[in-house]
Amino acid sequence: MRGLVHPGAAGKILPRFYPAERHRGHKKAHLPWIMAHVPDWAESFGDAFGGSGIVGWHAKTHGLRIITNDIMAFAHLRAKAVIVNGAARLHERDLDILAEPNPFRAHIAEEWYADAMGAASASWLDNLAANLPKLGDPVKQDVAAYTAIATLMARMNYSQVRFTTEHRFAGKRYLDGFDWCREFREHALNAFPPILHDNGMANEACRGDALEFVRSHRFDCLYLDPPFVGASRYEQDLGFYDKLVMLLTGRHGDIGDPFNGPVPLPPHTNFSNRSKGLMGLALLFRAATHVPRIILSYNTTSGIHPDEIARDGERIYGRLVVREERTALLPTARADRPRETKDVLLVFNRHPSPKDSMPIVTPPCDQSLLPVTVLR
Ligand SMILES: C[S@@+](CC[C@H](N)C(=O)[O-])C[C@H]1O[C@@H](n2cnc3c(N)ncnc32)[C@H](O)[C@@H]1O
Repeated sequence: MRGLVHPGAAGKILPRFYPAERHRGHKKAHLPWIMAHVPDWAESFGDAFGGSGIVGWHAKTHGLRIITNDIMAFAHLRAKAVIVNGAARLHERDLDILAEPNPFRAHIAEEWYADAMGAASASWLDNLAANLPKLGDPVKQDVAAYTAIATLMARMNYSQVRFTTEHRFAGKRYLDGFDWCREFREHALNAFPPILHDNGMANEACRGDALEFVRSHRFDCLYLDPPFVGASRYEQDLGFYDKLVMLLTGRHGDIGDPFNGPVPLPPHTNFSNRSKGLMGLALLFRAATHVPRIILSYNTTSGIHPDEIARDGERIYGRLVVREERTALLPTARADRPRETKDVLLVFNRHPSPKDSMPIVTPPCDQSLLPVTVLR
């Protein structure tokens, strides 16, 4: 197993305040499992479906150069703030600038979200959007936008965000006593700095389709956690956070429905049912023949059997060298009857390994979206 380069992370794995658990399908529980199969010779680590960013963030603490990707805006913003960024944080002076009343602010959040989050928080959000450019440094702006949204997310009990017909958050009253301005300040000064670390690598975050990402980048080791059966639920369930990113970056005009509608996303490969999931994965295997090792982990709630993945991986990509399964109990409405599923980890090696013959040169990540294969 590779050693840690970020001693602050040792033993903690995931700081409590990092609201990764709000991201459906996060793989916090798989971290030691995944890292045990990253070869010692690997220098770079690709994560095609970054999600909460926890896998990339954790791999970063092991000294790897991370190239991470996700189709969603908040996942991308988080990756920029906690994986690519190694040093920029907000200080008291920045927070004072962000809190200054801005007479030129738009009143978008006030109009849409005052009932859900309270008038003061909604107006604070509009003010923040207007003040972000005053920070100058684009990395600090990303950190501020990420921290603001993560502060709200940390208050939520569930990964999905839904609104009632009265435009309040459905479900529990998570925001009782919520003072966004104060909690943001606290998060920025106390909670964010401990997750920040510089591993001395030029880490990258991309936003685009996984297939194009894999085709156009090189890594020694690629991690795949495809959104099997339910890809479209991400844009529905976590879409609210992407809408906040759009609001904070002056793109509220593109949001469409600010409440329950899916967030508008660029075209991307859809894994939302068994056949599309398997087809998408087969295309990924074919696109990854320049990668020496693939680590894939997932949960069998998707109904996709590990044999199916193992067969396609061997047929299209390379040799299956590790297959591990363990029981995972998922909570159901009946607390005494959890649903039994399996967490699965599969590791494939490409033979002959491209590592023997090819220099690993990663082209810079292009944020503009390349043509994609859309399996809708
Ligand atoms: C199972 S989650 C990944 C979870 C992640 N491994 C973690 O630990 O948090 C799948 C992710 O894939 C993203 N996604 C869905 N379709 C995608 C596509 N075609 N290309 C890139 N990302 C996609 C979703 O936004 C979601 O964040």
